[in-house]
Amino acid sequence: MEDVSDIKITRRDLLKVGAASATGIAVPSVANAQEAASSATQRAVTAAVSLEVNGKPHKLELDTRTTLLDALREHMQLTGTKKGCDHGQCGACTVIVDGRRINSCLTLAVMHDGSKVTTIEGLGAPGKLHPMQAAFVRHDGYQCGYCTPGQVCSAVAVLGEIRDGIPSHVSADLKARPQVTAEEIRERMSGNICRCGAYSNIVDAITEVAGSKA
Ligand code: FES
Ligand code: FES
Repeated sequence: MEDVSDIKITRRDLLKVGAASATGIAVPSVANAQEAASSATQRAVTAAVSLEVNGKPHKLELDTRTTLLDALREHMQLTGTKKGCDHGQCGACTVIVDGRRINSCLTLAVMHDGSKVTTIEGLGAPGKLHPMQAAFVRHDGYQCGYCTPGQVCSAVAVLGEIRDGIPSHVSADLKARPQVTAEEIRERMSGNICRCGAYSNIVDAITEVAGSKA
């Protein structure tokens, strides 16, 4: 029987084996993925979706894989709602659906058939800003403005959540009505990322609106 010590495998031999096995696995898997993607495209299924967006009815025929964000931006031309990460991590796509805020990139439009959606375009208009929009302007709650539509929608919903007595991770007493504190606002707004770092001014804007009960 051959002694193990007689087997000589060089580093070069190992690299050759590794490359061959990697190629052997990768090539068919890429081909399979392309084939699956192309057959999925051919099998696109559409569905009728009715949404009330900013008070206006919309009837759409959508690929069932269309996110609510893409339905708003690409099919209704409501581009105020921004696509930041498209992975539920930045909050730029926040809209209000049936009174609750939602990351529109993480949900399919067909799941909201019959829902009422409010986007930044539905909150206020030039010359007639929503109190939260006006407070953001007064407090410099933005720089580039890319995150701002999501921040404003989220902020409006946050005050609604506090008014409805919904506790957050930092609420000390789960049975008491939460107070509008900077800590509560920061926690509740933590899903809305601002690359420009306008956070402290955003908290000031929300605090002012909460104080004026707008
Ligand atoms: Fe939806 Fe970032 S685009 S969370
Ligand atoms: Fe620029 Fe928030 S204002 S990302």
